[in-house]
Amino acid sequence: MSEERSGADKVSTQHRLIDSQLARLAEALQEGALATAEPRVERLLRSLKAHFTLEEDFYFPRAEAANGERRTEIEALRAEHVELDRALEETARHIREGTLDAARQCFKAFHAAILEHERVEVSLLVES
Ligand SMILES: [Fe+2]
Ligand SMILES: [Fe+2]
Repeated sequence: MSEERSGADKVSTQHRLIDSQLARLAEALQEGALATAEPRVERLLRSLKAHFTLEEDFYFPRAEAANGERRTEIEALRAEHVELDRALEETARHIREGTLDAARQCFKAFHAAILEHERVEVSLLVES
């Protein structure tokens, strides 16, 4: 197994953990259970920040070093991290404030965006 492939595998494993946290938060929001959603969104925020830091400090520089042509696409992923973090912070704020409809709406957009981000990311890391 090449080093790049194993990097992509590690990122994929973290994505699966994040996806399960996303599903648990989606479930709480669907049920309108804000008291359950709050610790779940806080946990997801922590997981996501740690995951983004690992990618930005370790996996992205390695992918860029392996293939310079990927630099622009990886820059776009870094920019998406900022947007995704902002969108989840906004979801968390609505949950804390008890505004369920706004939380659901915010989370729905965030959820679609992060799944697409993960898909592109893994394909880039595998191909690097
Ligand atoms: Fe990412
Ligand atoms: Fe990721």
